[in-house]
Amino acid sequence: MSTSGGHAETWTVGRLLAWTQEFFRQRGLESPRLCAEILLAHVLKTERLRLYTTFDQEPPAEAREAFRELVRRAAGGAPIAYLVGTKEFFSLPFEVGPDVLIPRPETEILVERTITLFKGAADAAPLILDLCTGSGCIAIALARHLPGARILASDISEGAIVIARRNAERHGVSGRIEFRVGDLLDPWRPDAAARGPLDVIVCNPPCVAAGDPAVEPSVRNYEPHLAIYAGADGLDVIRRVLGEAPAWLRSGGHLLMEVGYNQAAAVRRLVSDKLWTGATSYRDGGGHERVLHVRAAPVASQAYVA
Ligand SMILES: C[S@@+](CC[C@H](N)C(=O)[O-])C[C@H]1O[C@@H](n2cnc3c(N)ncnc32)[C@H](O)[C@@H]1O
Repeated sequence: MSTSGGHAETWTVGRLLAWTQEFFRQRGLESPRLCAEILLAHVLKTERLRLYTTFDQEPPAEAREAFRELVRRAAGGAPIAYLVGTKEFFSLPFEVGPDVLIPRPETEILVERTITLFKGAADAAPLILDLCTGSGCIAIALARHLPGARILASDISEGAIVIARRNAERHGVSGRIEFRVGDLLDPWRPDAAARGPLDVIVCNPPCVAAGDPAVEPSVRNYEPHLAIYAGADGLDVIRRVLGEAPAWLRSGGHLLMEVGYNQAAAVRRLVSDKLWTGATSYRDGGGHERVLHVRAAPVASQAYVA
């Protein structure tokens, strides 16, 4: 894409989009038109749909140059969300960067199902813990939709928690979410007895087997490995959550956990009848069981207080 030239060669918004769409298509990017529009809207600091009201205008040279650089990086595999620093989740914009996983649409199922637990109970004030919070997208979407909820959110990555805190500020819920850094439930241990049992634990853990060749290069090369890989079979963190979480929940408290598209059967085999009851799962748009929902058995709950 040469961004200079005579009148016939004018790089209007429309022409930039058409050229880039075709370039991305040839490079095998998914949704090439959408990607081109997101990048151009970003450099022009405008809404994507507003591009269509300036279709025949030529953006300034610096903007065309910045766009060209982003197009080059996207064609090389860099995720669009990292290039523009934001990703929409549950109809809210979230800051993202190399320290956090880019929120995925499948994860919205987990949020929807958690909200459904309290639908119709206007005065519900559940205590919810989001384990492995990353960008904070789950905790923040829940805080926005469950105004009475008190939410705790943690992650082993300090960089992720910095971004999650900024996202909570941005969405006006920082006063209702407590963020901590640490390994799974560890950060919540010191004041567990004073806090009392949790009503819900939500979790989208890392769940890919180390070295799994099916992982897309754009994921493997750009997203944090801490957010993706979990041991030889991908179940290391899931196994720990299923073993440790019941002691933190009230009797009948809920665990809703996202699992890999092909992991549901293996995960169900890890669910102990002594610790959990009522295993259910929810499918994603592709028909894969995506979210496991189990409830803490009475005998297992509140053991942390001891
Ligand atoms: C799959 S990402 C999910 C991020 C976010 N909740 C989402 O749904 O987009 C998993 C997250 O778990 C965190 N993580 C990995 N191992 C952990 C551990 N042992 N304890 C706490 N967090 C961990 C990673 O840093 C990463 O942010």
